[in-house]
Amino acid sequence: MNIKIITGGAVLLLGLGLGERALAQQRQATPQRYAQASWTIGMSQCNLGEPWRVQMNADIRKAAEEHPELSVVFKDAQNDTLKQRAHIEEFVGAGVDLLIVSPKEAAPLTAPVAAAFQKNIPVIVLDRKVLGEQYTCFIGADNRKIARAAGRWALKTLGGKGRVVELKGLMTSTPGQDRNVGFREGIQGSAMQVIFEADMKWLEPNARREMESALARFAEINLVYAHNDPGAHGAYLAAKAAGREKNMLFVGIDALPHEGQAYVRQGILAASFEYPTGGSEAIATALKILNGQKVAQHLTLPSRVFTRENIDQGGAWLPNE
Ligand code: FRU
Repeated sequence: MNIKIITGGAVLLLGLGLGERALAQQRQATPQRYAQASWTIGMSQCNLGEPWRVQMNADIRKAAEEHPELSVVFKDAQNDTLKQRAHIEEFVGAGVDLLIVSPKEAAPLTAPVAAAFQKNIPVIVLDRKVLGEQYTCFIGADNRKIARAAGRWALKTLGGKGRVVELKGLMTSTPGQDRNVGFREGIQGSAMQVIFEADMKWLEPNARREMESALARFAEINLVYAHNDPGAHGAYLAAKAAGREKNMLFVGIDALPHEGQAYVRQGILAASFEYPTGGSEAIATALKILNGQKVAQHLTLPSRVFTRENIDQGGAWLPNE
């Protein structure tokens, strides 16, 4: 009798153990089968020091609020790669149902994203890329195409030639690399010359400082191409302080309504190219994944250009190439 009970208990325990494992495996493979009252999404933001990232979080929050079954936990890495790595690991440890990561840099954040993905936590990479393909979905606009359009716009506006200052975004992040390569493609074969380039790491104070160096070295500058609007604005402030802002055009990327678009309206920037935050698309994609639908591994968002001429008409969409 005793033996029977022990055996029975052991079988039962064994059965439970197997059952739990099978359950966990199934849950990972098909999360929709276990209808949950709520899903927790971990959102790892690389920094909140720039208006564009504040907007991204606001877009995510607004989209998530329309779905009471979702709760989003935000972490801000304050532009520190190691901190962002730790945040991703903390989210994995806490067992979130899905991760959204907007990484600071590609290479150092590839491993933690891949580790989460390998643990069957769906990962949406937003805006900046990681290396390889170890994530569920990447969402962002085509930076190379935007930059090519910026190059072509500059070429056309300056009549095929000119002296350009390029203020680059962090070159260990993929938008910095793509916005550099794309612009060069846009002006290729022309008489347009990049006479000064510097990595301002996406930050306005750095851009201002670099522009002061450019102004000190070059008496003639026709256009400043900055990889984001804060960079273009920093360059404008440096030129204004030197009394030279009317001698050159300033072009940036992001085109937030209250930032880049406002600068265009005020006549500070000649053009701003839109870089959508992807916040609402990230939540729409997260819902699909959590409900067991298949999503494409890349979602490319469209972009518009805003100039003094078209701003009142809501800008112009970049053409398909
Ligand atoms: C903000 C930002 C934006 C830029 C994006 C690129 O951190 O620098 O201005 O468009 O990141 O990832």
